[in-house]
Amino acid sequence: MKFAVTGGAGFIGNNIVRELLRNNHTVSIIDNLHTGKKDNLIDVLDQVEFYNTDIRNFEELKMILKNVEGVFHEAALTVVQESFIKKNEYFDVNVKGTENIFKIAKDNNFKVVFASSSSVYGDVTEIPIKEDSARNPINPYGNTKLEDEFLAERYSNDGVEIIGLRYFNVFGIGQTGSYAGVITKFMNQLSKKLPPKIYGDGSQVRDFVFVKDVAEANLSAMQSKAKNGFFNVGTGRSISIEQLARMMIKIYGLSLEPEFTDPLQGDIMKSQAYTSLTKKTLNWEYKTDLHDGLSEIIQNFN
Ligand SMILES: NC(=O)c1ccc[n+]([C@@H]2O[C@H](COP(=O)([O-])OP(=O)(O)OC[C@H]3O[C@@H](n4cnc5c(N)ncnc54)[C@H](O)[C@@H]3O)[C@@H](O)[C@H]2O)c1
Repeated sequence: MKFAVTGGAGFIGNNIVRELLRNNHTVSIIDNLHTGKKDNLIDVLDQVEFYNTDIRNFEELKMILKNVEGVFHEAALTVVQESFIKKNEYFDVNVKGTENIFKIAKDNNFKVVFASSSSVYGDVTEIPIKEDSARNPINPYGNTKLEDEFLAERYSNDGVEIIGLRYFNVFGIGQTGSYAGVITKFMNQLSKKLPPKIYGDGSQVRDFVFVKDVAEANLSAMQSKAKNGFFNVGTGRSISIEQLARMMIKIYGLSLEPEFTDPLQGDIMKSQAYTSLTKKTLNWEYKTDLHDGLSEIIQNFN
């Protein structure tokens, strides 16, 4: 089948592209290379059609998406801290750009699987977080993802097939942005044999999900009979940042103690996906545990 991947030169997008090619699909990529790189696709570039296009450009999008059977929509601005300073730009790309895709899906009758985010939940008191929990984002980036969900609901009511995947903290080779930043930071410190620096007391917990599993979740959602809805994409397990630091120290074979510094303002304390709905409806669950995923990326990093 013929699919398009917006943001296909980015961290998660390039893994979706690879998963599609592995399954013998035809792939077009739409990416303006804002953070994405053609280098991420170097070994598959001759197997895809690449369009250096901005998702805000409706007319060009319409041309490119003329004959596709589905779109994986990953393109977005994704840096939480930056979203406070560039609110309008975040809204333009993440919300107006997304609506462009939904509009074309409505006219051309294709299914969309789009990247929402666990950030729509905000700072919760209870984990694991179920899909029907309240949506209270605490930063402008999270607000754009919530606006996308409102749009998805509106277009779904108009008969468009749209599934939103709420990714938790995606990690893997080539990770960018805020989500798995802590892993990259610890790797930078540990590769120099320096102790990992933890903001706060390290008791904050996260649900880290491996990028290849996230790519598979996207294909499952596209193939699924489910036409609409929002689904958590996480492991259903969580680890504290202190435990993460200790696990990574061990993988590096070092004997160090983590260092604790002042807490980060606005840091969420708890994040862990409830995964039963995704398992049941999309027939997807994670395969790679954190330790194995970390070992793979650390081997590649050195
Ligand atoms: N990484 C995570 O843990 C995580 C968690 C939740 C949600 N998400 C969402 O997943 C998606 C992919 O994130 P990622 O981590 O791969 O980030 P990324 O920055 O690596 O990928 C985003 C891609 O979108 C492209 N892009 C940005 N603006 C564009 C525009 N105007 N037109 C066309 N292309 C544009 C970038 O060049 C890049 O290739 C995003 O929608 C993000 O919000 C990611």
